[in-house]
Amino acid sequence: MREQLKKYAGRTSFHIPGHKGKPCGTGDFLASDLTELPGLDNLYAPAGIIKEAQERAAGIYGARRAVFLTNGSTSGLQAALVALCRDKTALVARNCHRSVFSALALARARPVYVYPENAGLYPGPIAAEEITNALQSNPDAAAVVIVSPTYEGVVSDIEAIAEKCRKHGVPLIIDEAHGAHFPFSPEFPKNAAAAGADVVISGLHKTLPVFGQSALLQINNESIASRILAALAMLQTSSPSYALMNRVDEFMSLPPDFERYLSEILAFRAKIEALSNVNLVKSDDLSRLVFVPKNVTPIRFAEILRNDYEIDIEAAYLSHAVAISSVADDFADFAAFGRALRGIDALPPQACRGELIPPFRGRSETAIPPHAALFAENTEKTPFRESIGRVSANFILTYPPGVPLIAPGEVITDDAALYLAELEKRGFPVAGVENGCIATLSGGIYGKDWK
Ligand SMILES: Cc1ncc(COP(=O)(O)O)c(C=O)c1O
Repeated sequence: MREQLKKYAGRTSFHIPGHKGKPCGTGDFLASDLTELPGLDNLYAPAGIIKEAQERAAGIYGARRAVFLTNGSTSGLQAALVALCRDKTALVARNCHRSVFSALALARARPVYVYPENAGLYPGPIAAEEITNALQSNPDAAAVVIVSPTYEGVVSDIEAIAEKCRKHGVPLIIDEAHGAHFPFSPEFPKNAAAAGADVVISGLHKTLPVFGQSALLQINNESIASRILAALAMLQTSSPSYALMNRVDEFMSLPPDFERYLSEILAFRAKIEALSNVNLVKSDDLSRLVFVPKNVTPIRFAEILRNDYEIDIEAAYLSHAVAISSVADDFADFAAFGRALRGIDALPPQACRGELIPPFRGRSETAIPPHAALFAENTEKTPFRESIGRVSANFILTYPPGVPLIAPGEVITDDAALYLAELEKRGFPVAGVENGCIATLSGGIYGKDWK
């Protein structure tokens, strides 16, 4: 493992984690890798140094409470959904990450999906009216769950959505895994806790210079806090890493110079926006770099960066490529990235660039909730071309961004099967498809052979 990992040393990173492989904090990982010794407090009953550090973080995010997560955003999402939606209906943005769907399964919740606006090459925001309609049609909803920002930096109007949720007395949970940097500059969008969400999960390790798996749960609503904390203590490790928590507190106590970073990213964006073939898309989040190259495919774009310039970006799809920048990026990183992008911009058009294929945005019926599909005893492997009308027993997705193309429990549509065929034709890897087959529930066509 070590040998392979070492190959990334010295390369330019425009991907997660947010520390970009640079020394951060005191760097004293081993000395801070301790356990609940006298004076070191306890994450699950904080009364000393952890309590103080969490209060510091809560102050920055404008939340009533903040709780350290050392098992990534996933653990916070699970705790919130298990606590609030157990055996109940949840209104869920369909463009959520698979960790939300897994949390729904753990909670045995029944999702009613809300769809994002159709914004072109990738999903747009969730409209507040969609939430109002869903709340009116589902008076039994126990929570609303939305991802904001998305992988591409699309931010929904959380203030408006929070107001609708408050009116209906339904807690609003925001997956802010990609927006942990928002409170550190007014140039970034308002963070969800400050915008009035009840529960927010921020993935600190994605965009801040802290260690992998560090995240922060924020709770703004005392009436639901104890339930969420009880669930978290069950779902998260009983040995939370002090090295992770200490680094988060070092960062929160003395954040680096975001003004320097902002002036550099703004200058970088301005230079790249002037290029003709490398199209840098406007984003709600200035730090998120979404590219739609005109002369090469987005996948080739990432390959050239990787092989010719030793620059690794976060992801490339059939429609666009995503690079993640953070406050750890410095002038030299932006200069190297800029040089590489100018080099790509000057390339002649690739003959086979072809049509851009946006992520799948078809809609489908949910036959059974995710837990019933994922834990079903009677499933079979079905060639995806013959699976139309059957119910998926698994996640079918591309990773990243990890948004299910077909969620467990959904009926497979003609459109979804056609889309899978297109991905197969282009050699794009899809999790949940093995040798052209997907796991479906036994019993045949939903609505015809069974209901
Ligand atoms: C939008 C979103 N939410 C949640 C998660 C899960 O975060 P973590 O890997 O920190 O558990 C991810 C991970 O990629 C994500 O992209």
